[in-house]
Amino acid sequence: MEIDGKTRICGLIGNPVEHTLSPVIHNTLAERFGHNLVYVPFPVEPGRIEDAVAGAAALQILGLNVTVPYKSEVISCLREVDPLAGAIGAVNTLVSVTGGYKGYNTDMEGLYRAMESEGIRIAGEEIILLGAGGASRAVAYLCAVKGAGRVYLLNRTFDKAQKVAEEVNNRTGRNVISPMSLEEYVKLPEGKYLAIQGTSVGLAPNVEAAVIEDRAFYDKIHTGFDLIYSPWETKFMRLVKENGGDAYNGLKMLLYQGVIAYELWNQVQVSKEDAKVVYGRLKRHFV
Ligand code: ATR
Repeated sequence: MEIDGKTRICGLIGNPVEHTLSPVIHNTLAERFGHNLVYVPFPVEPGRIEDAVAGAAALQILGLNVTVPYKSEVISCLREVDPLAGAIGAVNTLVSVTGGYKGYNTDMEGLYRAMESEGIRIAGEEIILLGAGGASRAVAYLCAVKGAGRVYLLNRTFDKAQKVAEEVNNRTGRNVISPMSLEEYVKLPEGKYLAIQGTSVGLAPNVEAAVIEDRAFYDKIHTGFDLIYSPWETKFMRLVKENGGDAYNGLKMLLYQGVIAYELWNQVQVSKEDAKVVYGRLKRHFV
């Protein structure tokens, strides 16, 4: 693509940003659509998020993704917030509107599309969700909104699990999230579960760790979905597979959160074929 006077800019704000794969997603989509658009990373120093958003608006930057540690902090810098993102309390996508930006959360819808693309259902399912941090909180919300049968939210710090469960149950008006401490997995009712791994345990370089190591736990899982994609196969995924379940990593979630952001910025629909091409390019970074 040739950069000229009409080139539009999108980018990522966060800290750190140098390992991001988002440029692969958006620059590939721009190429496929023939859009005159480039996507670049912008590291933002602590305390400068407000300046960064105001500066981006002044420069008429079309759209931004937001990553750690600013997904919550950015909310106070926005003109508008999509109700879903407001309920989750985290924004990962900014779309240019008059006088600033509107914030969305495409992580959650991205996870939903990723699961759909693998034929994984949430509606009516019995689900184990591991973790109660920012990522798991959004997943808990997604499960409640998409009609999960029951979600057992297991976390090392029980208080955090309890807080997230209470909040999501209240907001969605569904008493569907049951908080538990990690060790309480032995008390889970008999049955086979979809398990979503939302903790940071197993992330490179600590690839030899899983939040629960006991094989008896993995007997309860028919499908495991880890939000982590580096390493390509986490120990959690390996344990699920070794006990006869299907396991997926988080790369398709990354793909679809980007696809949805690109759709919002450009008012287009990304085809399955284009998403497949982007996924192929992302995958090259791992295998
Ligand atoms: P994120 O926003 O990415 O979810 P986070 O808010 O720091 O990150 O949350 C990290 C999650 O991983 C939490 O659920 C955390 O458990 P605690 O709430 O008890 O801290 C979980 N986690 C991190 N390290 C862990 C470990 N060694 N064992 C068990 N859980 C761990």
